[in-house]
Amino acid sequence: MVGPLLVVKDLVKEFGGFRAVDGVSLELFPGEILAFLGPNGAGKTTTIAMITTLIKPTSGAITLGGVDVVRQAEAAKALFGVVFQEAAVDRDLTARENLWLHAVLYGLPRSEREERIEEMLRLVELIDRRDDLVRTFSGGMQRRLEFARGLMTRPRVLFLDEPTLGLDVQSRERIWSYIERIRSDYGTAFFLTTHYLEEAERVDRVAIIDHGRLIAVDTPGGLKASHGAASMDEVFLTLTGHGIRDEQLDAASLQRVFRHRRKQ
Ligand SMILES: Nc1ncnc2c1ncn2[C@@H]1O[C@H](COP(=O)(O)OP(=O)(O)OP(=O)(O)O)[C@@H](O)[C@H]1O
Ligand SMILES: [Mg+2]
Repeated sequence: MVGPLLVVKDLVKEFGGFRAVDGVSLELFPGEILAFLGPNGAGKTTTIAMITTLIKPTSGAITLGGVDVVRQAEAAKALFGVVFQEAAVDRDLTARENLWLHAVLYGLPRSEREERIEEMLRLVELIDRRDDLVRTFSGGMQRRLEFARGLMTRPRVLFLDEPTLGLDVQSRERIWSYIERIRSDYGTAFFLTTHYLEEAERVDRVAIIDHGRLIAVDTPGGLKASHGAASMDEVFLTLTGHGIRDEQLDAASLQRVFRHRRKQ
């Protein structure tokens, strides 16, 4: 069996006296798609910010592709891409200029830039809009460009913090088709957060965090089986005590959740 690409061990982040991330240990394997789920404020973004070198852990270790992320941040940066919750593309540049800028900042050789930009713009179906200013793009188009930007350097793993937030069903489906294509073409791993729990049905493994602690890590099928749940909504509701969208669960599912909780 291949070893893990990413190893997170006993990761802690304190803000003042408050522990936002409280001893998280987790592995991600090459080519794996992992959904990192949790209620608002659970510590998802903080965890991703530490793994992607944006903030320093209070304690714990992070190894990516054998590189110590905390001590060798520059070497680690070559191995991952990241797309954050906040927009990172420049709205006053065109789609092409944004990707060009990113390629330059990340040291992609000039000879490869043009081809890579074109490949990425084709992937996210923005090739026809390449010379338009990003400020003229819809929200969905901007998200697709952000996604392309994160993949420009062909990272071993792409971190996506709520890549489908606020997108309509068709746009979300597009993002997922890109994720699946990139994984099968390049063996890229994905570490992503989402509040749309049906998206967690299609990943390899799910990790659930609540109040800074990991409370479950398993395949979607394994989680549903061990909690007697029919959907990830039910699993989430059972484990965290509050559904993300429990108003959308039908009565039969809610009854199953309540029965399961009483048994524990
Ligand atoms: N720079 C900071 N200073 C103080 N507290 C912070 C800071 N960043 C995050 N926190 C706190 O840490 C906790 C975890 O926040 P985080 O953004 O990681 O949650 P999240 O799981 O990403 O939530 P969401 O689903 O809403 O995006 C929250 O209570 C938040 O207020
Ligand atoms: Mg967040």
